[in-house]
Amino acid sequence: MRTVYVNGDYLPEDEAKISVFDRGFLFADAVYEVTSVLDGKLIDFAGHMARLSRSLSELDMPAPVSDEEMLDIHRTLVTENGIEEGMIYLQVTRGAADRDFLFPDAETRPNLVLFTQKKSLVDSPLAARGQKVVSADDLRWRRSDIKTTQLLYASWAKSQAHAKGADDVWLVRDGLVTEGSSNNAYIVTTDGTIVTRQLSSDILSGITRQAVLQCARELQIKVEERPFTPDEVKAAREAFSTSASSFVCPVIEIDGVAIGEGEPGPVARRLREIYIEKSRAAAM
Ligand code: PDD
Repeated sequence: MRTVYVNGDYLPEDEAKISVFDRGFLFADAVYEVTSVLDGKLIDFAGHMARLSRSLSELDMPAPVSDEEMLDIHRTLVTENGIEEGMIYLQVTRGAADRDFLFPDAETRPNLVLFTQKKSLVDSPLAARGQKVVSADDLRWRRSDIKTTQLLYASWAKSQAHAKGADDVWLVRDGLVTEGSSNNAYIVTTDGTIVTRQLSSDILSGITRQAVLQCARELQIKVEERPFTPDEVKAAREAFSTSASSFVCPVIEIDGVAIGEGEPGPVARRLREIYIEKSRAAAM
């Protein structure tokens, strides 16, 4: 049985409890982070903490503990649960208060929960075969830059994509791809340029995105941060996505049309290797 963290306590998972009045439960009034673990160490931890602070401040939520305590909790859970490879999920909610659309008063204590998930991240069958995606309208709220737990649309759209035999959905707003259900989206054009949407409130500022774009620049690959259309994806040489839980994952098909050779491309494969190598070296 897993040990999970709830507001200062390390508990067996079946004893970890949160109030039914928790605003995360009632209003999705909560933010989260997912940090990956390789060799029992945390990947891009500082980046995830910086983004958490930003999500909290955008929603006027206080930080429940300091970054040092957060690091300590992450490390304790990794050790307690013997995580060599996998993820740590962290959620902060505005706390429990009688149901009301108005935010509760400042005395309401945030709830902090963390748990681990064991997963083989480096050896990924999906990364080896490449993902098939379908496009769908991006009907999420317009502050996708804040990592809230308001994930119903993304979850629904991904499930509909699965029902159509695809692995994921790429969301489209005003004819332009925003991002995947839980990852950032990229194409490699026929002239070898990596194109990914620029940061704005339309997408989450991926911590993996930042690191992978840095790898691309070090490899002297041209990067353009601009929106692209589903037709550009179909005409691209390659496509891929990035996230903490999938690193760099090739995309080989969109809406039934093969991208490039219809198999994982060399740029995505190379970036995946380099990202994993650099992340292992910098893990803490
Ligand atoms: N999702 N875009 C969205 C909508 C996401 O939910 C995520 C991450 C990303 C990639 O961000 P990062 O590289 O920092 O993981 C982009 C996590 C993994 C999740 O919800 O499980």
